[in-house]
Amino acid sequence: MSVRNTPRQGRFVTFEGIDGAGKSSQIAAASKWASQAGWELVCSREPGGTPLGEKLRELLLHEPMHLETEALLMFAARREHLAQIIEPALARGAFVLCDRFSDATYAYQHGGRGLDAAKFAALEQWVHPTRQPDLTFVFDVSPDIAAARLVRGRADADKFEREQQDFFQRVRQAYLDRAASSGGRIVVIDAGQSIEAVCAAVLACLQERFG
Ligand code: TMP
Repeated sequence: MSVRNTPRQGRFVTFEGIDGAGKSSQIAAASKWASQAGWELVCSREPGGTPLGEKLRELLLHEPMHLETEALLMFAARREHLAQIIEPALARGAFVLCDRFSDATYAYQHGGRGLDAAKFAALEQWVHPTRQPDLTFVFDVSPDIAAARLVRGRADADKFEREQQDFFQRVRQAYLDRAASSGGRIVVIDAGQSIEAVCAAVLACLQERFG
């Protein structure tokens, strides 16, 4: 009898929230969890994650542009990211952790900027018709707590970080609305708690879904 060595199914987990919600420490904790659980770990981010994507990130975060250009470049960078990094890693059976994905476009470009969500549904259908994250964390926090964490107003703040509280309130609400209709894919975590409490919630969820 021959035994076929099939790689285990890859997993795709994304991290979302308004700027200053505290994703970075949670991504670090989740990375440690996945490595200790024996997964090949791939950590990436959007916009970015590839040489071309990182160039687009620089433009997206610092160059003034039409709002639809911004949305289209987000999806262009994502197309490259899926082709170069995400899909090959998932095919190898890796655990892919990504700092933001398409939920961010809905939250920021639809919720924040007010662009029509139907356009993003069409772009999503084009760029990743059969791919969605297996799990998405939304770190939910009020814009004033997030602003205090970011120390907004610092000289090197990017285009998004310079936005006002009402922009982040709309982004936050768009994340919550999307979570409510996600059928459990998007898990909202209260990021106003201590880092330790947020981390415990993240690890418990990873263990329950993939442990
Ligand atoms: P980061 O600071 O969390 O790395 O994200 C970069 C910024 O890009 C952040 O302010 C959110 C924004 N963004 C969008 O507006 N739309 C998107 O689709 C993505 C991926 C990020």
